Amino acid sequence: MGVGISMAGLASAVANEGGIGVIATAGIGMLERDAYSNFLEANIRALRKEIRAARERTKGILGVNIMVALSNYADMVRTAVEEKIDVIFSGAGLPLGLPELVRKSGATKLVPIVSSARAAGLIIRKWLAKHDYCPDGIVVEGPLAGGHLGFKPEQIGDPAFRLERLIPEVVAEVLPFEQELGRAIPVVAAGGIYTGADVHKFLEMGASGVQMATRFVATEECDASPEFKEAFVNAGRDDLTIIASPVGMPGRAIRNRFLDDVGAGKKKPFRCPFHCIITCKQKASPYCIALALTSALKGKLKNGFAFAGANAWRVDKITSVKALIAELLREYGEAAGAPAGGRAL
Ligand SMILES: Cc1cc2nc3c(=O)[nH]c(=O)nc-3n(C[C@H](O)[C@H](O)[C@H](O)COP(=O)(O)O)c2cc1C
Repeated sequence: MGVGISMAGLASAVANEGGIGVIATAGIGMLERDAYSNFLEANIRALRKEIRAARERTKGILGVNIMVALSNYADMVRTAVEEKIDVIFSGAGLPLGLPELVRKSGATKLVPIVSSARAAGLIIRKWLAKHDYCPDGIVVEGPLAGGHLGFKPEQIGDPAFRLERLIPEVVAEVLPFEQELGRAIPVVAAGGIYTGADVHKFLEMGASGVQMATRFVATEECDASPEFKEAFVNAGRDDLTIIASPVGMPGRAIRNRFLDDVGAGKKKPFRCPFHCIITCKQKASPYCIALALTSALKGKLKNGFAFAGANAWRVDKITSVKALIAELLREYGEAAGAPAGGRAL
């Protein structure tokens, strides 16, 4: 979760509980002193620092999330690989060139994030043909996710695009490749997964795991400010809204004064020293999304807004990662009709 929401604190806590803790690279350098004067270096330095800080706190599995749309994509990939990150998750565009940048390091697993079976098939075919590399897993992100969404606005509420439809489609899409290659390509479900029963439902549909974001914002270990976490606790159902992000994709966020102002045509002047997202139309945009998300991270929600998943309104307390994962395991066990913790997530 960018900008700065899932960093060493949250990622290491999740990894310590047996999950894959993920550090977001989007805007990771925004908190460095030279973010504006030396953007590229600031981001590389910040990523190195976060991976090392997380490693000091866990012996578990750590990943990074690198959006294809980042203009420093190659820098982020190379830095993560140099730091021997265990997994790279990459979406917000098709990560067709990812294996080339990693050059078969062997130590780092590569997991594209997609929103359709078509994209999954396309990536697998292209990676095999061009790079002789098969994705180590595929995350399928449905329309209930938080942040930028890989759907057209009219698809977001359309039942044909529900995660419950997408997962079996992607599982069917990867099956012939699994059979041909004689290896598994785990499918990971994401977007709106809230309880252990949800996890059970998607595993029953053929997913091998889940990716969760929203619930982990409301944890003590999450790297966001208390104000950011409180915005989740206080959000009602009607506060969740879809915005037209300056980067040209729809995004799900918690409605606030800042977004209302933007909706009413107000401009939030900014300087753009570095075009951080390739698809951002910064000249036409009323605000800088990197700056708005960094302000929100720091708790200055007057100057920004919080991305959040469709289920953020259900968050009613801040808990620990340990307690949250124990709750998910208990609910999973109940849904499976098995003793709690009987099967790892
Ligand atoms: C605050 C926030 C920030 C996010 N930032 C990113 C990001 O930087 N890159 C990305 O690929 N997905 C991002 N996402 C999407 C999540 O990684 C995840 O797939 C999705 O939100 C899962 O749905 P859930 O929030 O209902 O669990 C973000 C989500 C949230 C809530």
